[in-house]
Amino acid sequence: MKKYLSILLALVVLGGCQAPTETKQNLEENYRPSYHFTPKKGWMNDPNGMVYLDGTYHLFFQHNPDTTVWGPMHWGHATSTDLIHWEEQPIALFPDSLGTIFSGSAVVDKDNTAGFGKDVLVAIFTHHNPKIEEEKTGLHQYQSIAYSLDKGKSWTKYEGNPVLPNPGIWDFRDPKVMWHAASKQWVMTLATKQSITFYGSKNLKEWARLSEFGNEVGAHGGVWECPDLLRFETAEGDKWVLLVSINPGGPNTGSATQYFVGDFDGTTFSSDQTDIRWMDYGPDNYAGVTFSNTGDQHILMGWMSNWAYANTVPASTWRSGMTIPRTLSLEKIQEHWHLVSTPITKDDQTSGAQQIGAIRVQNGSEDLSKYIKEAHGAFELSFELDAVASFNMVLANEKGDELVFGFDETNNQFFVDRSKAGDANFSPSFIQRTVAPRIASAQKMKYSVLLDRNSIEIFADGGLSNLSNLFFIDQSFDVLTFKSAKDVEVKNVKVNVIK
Ligand code: FRU
Repeated sequence: MKKYLSILLALVVLGGCQAPTETKQNLEENYRPSYHFTPKKGWMNDPNGMVYLDGTYHLFFQHNPDTTVWGPMHWGHATSTDLIHWEEQPIALFPDSLGTIFSGSAVVDKDNTAGFGKDVLVAIFTHHNPKIEEEKTGLHQYQSIAYSLDKGKSWTKYEGNPVLPNPGIWDFRDPKVMWHAASKQWVMTLATKQSITFYGSKNLKEWARLSEFGNEVGAHGGVWECPDLLRFETAEGDKWVLLVSINPGGPNTGSATQYFVGDFDGTTFSSDQTDIRWMDYGPDNYAGVTFSNTGDQHILMGWMSNWAYANTVPASTWRSGMTIPRTLSLEKIQEHWHLVSTPITKDDQTSGAQQIGAIRVQNGSEDLSKYIKEAHGAFELSFELDAVASFNMVLANEKGDELVFGFDETNNQFFVDRSKAGDANFSPSFIQRTVAPRIASAQKMKYSVLLDRNSIEIFADGGLSNLSNLFFIDQSFDVLTFKSAKDVEVKNVKVNVIK
């Protein structure tokens, strides 16, 4: 009897030990998307140093490994061969005596201009000195470099850092460096408070100021950060696009990324754009920049959050993810060039792709739930409409959570309503209905919508109007209903379940 009692006791104790472990594991996985990059643990913000080398995409990122809120910044590291499956690598850059490691970029030094070796990876980043910031004894941000002789595995900081000292500008950060072939120099695009300053260099170590852009144009509701300068070949010759993230002052509160279309001659960026254009109107796509060394392809990834609430979103042992990578291109709409974003979800990354074809929506609504039953909240839905018509697409689960997205013809706007999608009250800044204007004027509409458990990214009109949003449910959506007051034919409906 005594023996059985002690076995029973042991089982109870063991059981008692197991239960919390299981709960803990589940909690750790709470809000973890299935095909968007998230760090294993700790805090993440901006993508950094994104570069393609010998078949591998490298993603570095702003990382505080020890807690789930922003703090002393490191560069975390992850690699991928297809931009969807990521493998986290050891931390690449740690804080040092010059400061913590803020955002920046990486290049492949094909011609050994810096003298570290041919084809060596060189990272260009901001050193941020918290002590100087706190004591205000000087200027706390300056640019430094590091190099890797083993394709990104390990990094050595250059002994001559900083390579670009601060000339007297408080916000002086986020260098994005590219090779400008025509002027045979490296060009650094740098955020300087409310403007962008360009610097040039032959060797990545000595930098000379070239010009400044932006004090009088664009949105200025907040500080300018994380710029990128891109060249596009068009039927009218080269066009240049300058991406500028701004925080706050975005169209749906808080952080967002605006862009300018213009020309760059190796010294000066000029643009006659008078309106404000946003790369993504959604509140949850910030600090996005592109990979370097991808030829004419511009692949952008952003941080899927917003400084207005990033530190307080529901989380467990890790916090924040990246957006889906997107290819950027330019399209002319009524005499103006606009950026177009195309999400990268290749066919071999999807399983159970369903070509559903045309669906007639009559009497107000149509239940599409059967197409997403096996998806566990991770799928791509695409469809077309032959007319410009208002509709609501409603995602739901049996808990009563509901996310609605659609088009509002009266206001010519796409929208996402996340007010009933799980926890939407953790911060007053978590704007509950987000909108994006329609830019296209065509009579047809084309949608690609990516769901990944706790996020929705809408690419409307083939990627002209985009809306990326987070939400926080703890049970996947498995009910999908298309609602419209008018009878419509939804064409070319496809659902790709993403592995
Ligand atoms: C943008 C940003 C950058 C800075 C980094 C710090 O989100 O504020 O300007 O380098 O984050 O983590």
